[in-house]
Amino acid sequence: MTASIDVRIKPNENLARTPTAIEPEVPKLPDYLVDVYTWAYVARPNVEFLDREPVVALILWGQQNRLMRAARDEIEPGERVLQPAAVYGKLCTQIAEHIGPDGEYHVTDIQPIQIEHVGRKTRGLKQVRTGLSDARTTGDGLYDTVCCYFLMHEVPEDYKRDIANNLAAHVKPGGKLMFVDYHEPALLHPMRPVIWLVFKWLEPFAKALWSNELKDYLDDSDAFTWRKKTIFGGLYQKVVGVKKA
Ligand SMILES: C[S@@+](CC[C@H](N)C(=O)[O-])C[C@H]1O[C@@H](n2cnc3c(N)ncnc32)[C@H](O)[C@@H]1O
Repeated sequence: MTASIDVRIKPNENLARTPTAIEPEVPKLPDYLVDVYTWAYVARPNVEFLDREPVVALILWGQQNRLMRAARDEIEPGERVLQPAAVYGKLCTQIAEHIGPDGEYHVTDIQPIQIEHVGRKTRGLKQVRTGLSDARTTGDGLYDTVCCYFLMHEVPEDYKRDIANNLAAHVKPGGKLMFVDYHEPALLHPMRPVIWLVFKWLEPFAKALWSNELKDYLDDSDAFTWRKKTIFGGLYQKVVGVKKA
């Protein structure tokens, strides 16, 4: 299992340019990332291939714009937002532009190559700050919105709980904790058997989201007022908790 962890958030513009910058300390990769997801998030050629819009569209059955919109709709321009893991495709650029120069968008991930990609996609947007850290410990103070986008289905149950609790602690009173992720599709959903097989072969920690509510991974879910919306016949969900004052 991992130890890590270190949050080093630095301005996006410095990521690639400052020759004298101290190399960020790289958190140890969790076992699941090495054992299960090397092909998807660690191996450079695959990362270069997967971080493209048509591939993202394929993986999300054409629902990528709807899902991005669902996340973006929860965020107001000028907000301080934390996203604890990088995402392939246009999400980071879209959220950064939506937040605008008066806000702050902290995107963290446990792997340098993922942070490198976020930096590339958001270059020139001063509101973006990136950092290497584990989602179980990431965060720098309180945020208006914490956007956990398709991370929870990829991590084992103990990580799900630790991540949910850590993210909840970084939401300011009145702020939002948002999860966008997989959900159990309707029984007759045509994609149900396909997704079942994908989860069985490639995503062993995902099917837990078919039976568990995301809010139940928090120790104190009563500290939030929850709403949930399912998308595309139940295959996806957006869950938003507003922290009580
Ligand atoms: C957000 S998830 C998957 C999203 C979706 N498949 C996509 O990219 O469109 C992928 C990211 O989670 C990161 N990740 C996995 N476990 C993590 C952890 N414990 N802390 C921070 N980042 C993590 C991986 O490095 C990867 O960049």
